[in-house]
Amino acid sequence: MPVDSTPFPPLTLALLAGAGLAAAGLFAFVRHRWTAPARRLEEMLAELSAGRVPRSFILPGPPAFIRIAGQVEKIAARQDRLLEQARREEYSLRAILRSMTEGVLVVDANHVVREVNEAFLRQFALRTNPIGRTVLEAVRIAAVEEAIVETFRSGQAHEREITLSPANPDEPPRHFDVSAMPVRRAGTEDVVAVFHDISRLKQLEDVRREFVANVSHELRTPLSIFRGYVETLIDQPHVPPAELQRILATMLRHSQRLNALVDDLLMLARLESRRIALDAVAVRLEPFLGRIAGDLKMKLADKQLTLVLALPEGLPPLEADPFRLEQVIYNLLDNAIKYSEPDGRITISAEVAGPMMRLHVTDHGKGIPPADLPHIFERFYRVDKARSRDQGGTGLGLSIVKHIVQLHGGEVAAESQLNHGTTITVALPLAEEEKEKEAPQNPTS
Ligand SMILES: Nc1ncnc2c1ncn2[C@@H]1O[C@H](COP(=O)(O)OP(=O)(O)OP(=O)(O)O)[C@@H](O)[C@H]1O
Ligand SMILES: [Mg+2]
Repeated sequence: MPVDSTPFPPLTLALLAGAGLAAAGLFAFVRHRWTAPARRLEEMLAELSAGRVPRSFILPGPPAFIRIAGQVEKIAARQDRLLEQARREEYSLRAILRSMTEGVLVVDANHVVREVNEAFLRQFALRTNPIGRTVLEAVRIAAVEEAIVETFRSGQAHEREITLSPANPDEPPRHFDVSAMPVRRAGTEDVVAVFHDISRLKQLEDVRREFVANVSHELRTPLSIFRGYVETLIDQPHVPPAELQRILATMLRHSQRLNALVDDLLMLARLESRRIALDAVAVRLEPFLGRIAGDLKMKLADKQLTLVLALPEGLPPLEADPFRLEQVIYNLLDNAIKYSEPDGRITISAEVAGPMMRLHVTDHGKGIPPADLPHIFERFYRVDKARSRDQGGTGLGLSIVKHIVQLHGGEVAAESQLNHGTTITVALPLAEEEKEKEAPQNPTS
């Protein structure tokens, strides 16, 4: 009996082939419907996790994929907003740090510098970037390191003042107010320190202290003289008339000195607060100085001094408040007379320099030592304190001169040679119409 060698009848084979084809078709269908969009979804998520925005959020496939794509697009939009917000915050933070006049230093728990602003680099004259180095390496100031250590140790805000000695001994020390604050960030602790430069404040404090000490000292001298004489008069009511006359004359002299001191102090206070309104007009120097020379005739004659007005022909007028200008010239001549030897000569000369007039008062007196010269415009500064005070000087005269001149928009300078004489130069603006004449002509006009 013939045996059919095929294990399956043709119909079965056909069915099997059909089923195979169907499976392949199904596989292709599933692959097309699920695998391709799944792969696309994977690509999309990879783009997002790398911080990029996918080209599109369209996923061809079953509705579930379309919904997923919608959600992914929302996540991407949210991520984009968060990134933009972070960028804006970072930008604002940088802008704030950059615009601050206070120095800012951020340090991590290992005392490594994480952030600084430009003001900090300037304050400590740092030329290399300190980020990544320890505070001590970067700033090399033990007090700063101590402030950081103390803040980490206590976990509390910490404030201290630090003083830096200058590298150059001619410069004043610098003072900082340091406020350090612990800040928790993502489980770690940083310290943010803010450096406020208070050098100017300290300097003003010193000036004020010195000023009060000077004023008290100046007031004490005449007051103790008054007190001494009044006590003498109480103890001995019958003082001989000649002695009484001498006592009263001394008291009068010191009361005048006291008056002069108070007047000068008030004048300085008004000048410094710029509460003085200038009544500036065009002033012709020749008649103006002629009048002052006339007023001082007696004083000059007492010391056999000659005052020479060496003004060039056709000198243009100044723009000045005549009353204040008189104070300037009186003070300069008063010094020239006071510090000249008898029989000497004092010269006032002038020249035009651009929009300004330069006025020089020159004497051939005792001069000023080079070390004192830079200080003579300071309040109460006197080269020979005892002598100046004996002559009724308060040491405020040149300080008043400087302030008046500056109020006019001018400047003062001094030159001197010990035992040969002194020249004080005052530069003041020319009257408005003269400035135009003196201004260089514009060649194109
Ligand atoms: N022409 C000068 N020659 C020498 N020393 C001068 C001259 N002008 C100023 N000085 C020095 O500068 C110091 C300051 O001068 P300033 O006019 O401010 O004070 P003063 O003359 O002592 O007192 P005041 O002018 O208040 O009466 C003087 O004490 C003096 O030592
Ligand atoms: Mg004087």
